[in-house]
Amino acid sequence: MTMELRFLGHACFTLSDGDTTVLIDPFLTGNPKAAIAADDVQATTILLTHGHADHIGDTVAIARRTGAPVVAIVELAREVGEEGIEAHDPNLGGTVKFDWGWVKLVPAWHTSTTPKGTVNTPAGLLIDFDGTVVYHLGDTSLFSDLQLVGKRTPIDLALMCIGGHYTMDQTDAVDAAGLIGAKTVIPCHYNTFPLVEADADAFKSDVESATGSNVVVLDPGETYST
Ligand code: NI
Ligand code: MN
Repeated sequence: MTMELRFLGHACFTLSDGDTTVLIDPFLTGNPKAAIAADDVQATTILLTHGHADHIGDTVAIARRTGAPVVAIVELAREVGEEGIEAHDPNLGGTVKFDWGWVKLVPAWHTSTTPKGTVNTPAGLLIDFDGTVVYHLGDTSLFSDLQLVGKRTPIDLALMCIGGHYTMDQTDAVDAAGLIGAKTVIPCHYNTFPLVEADADAFKSDVESATGSNVVVLDPGETYST
């Protein structure tokens, strides 16, 4: 089964097979690098890593328009659910199953409070999309247990922040790529704002010389198919 991944800017991606579209961290309104408007994006399921504004973004508006359910850690799911949105509320270690596959919340080292003030623990998203395993690391710093995720579940695609300041930087992300051992790494969460500038081409050459992973650099709007 072919899966098309599309990078929509910052940490936002869609995974799609044509019928099902999984939308991750839909920060589009106010995102200077957004590849699509919130009113135009497709979604049949929405997944959130955490509740910072540059991740929760347009979630409620898109869920309302599309009817897509949202998966988010319990405190964040509760806030979204209070808007009348169908929300699945796992905690770290929890898996939610769908007809397209499943998503599991795994640890990420970061902080998070929503724009409305809900404190929530950030997560990484381990996703099985019809047999293709995608690991969106969320906003994390480098930590050694990243290794455990890839050791237990071989990763096809790792979506990894490299921008620094709010997350690991491109130097730490090379070590993260080594720990995870994905077939392919796609960098994100960089060059959206001046504070998160990074050199993705240098990251690509560093990862490809230090690890067995290959790196695909996508501009917002570009796709990668498995
Ligand atoms: Ni964050
Ligand atoms: Mn962020």
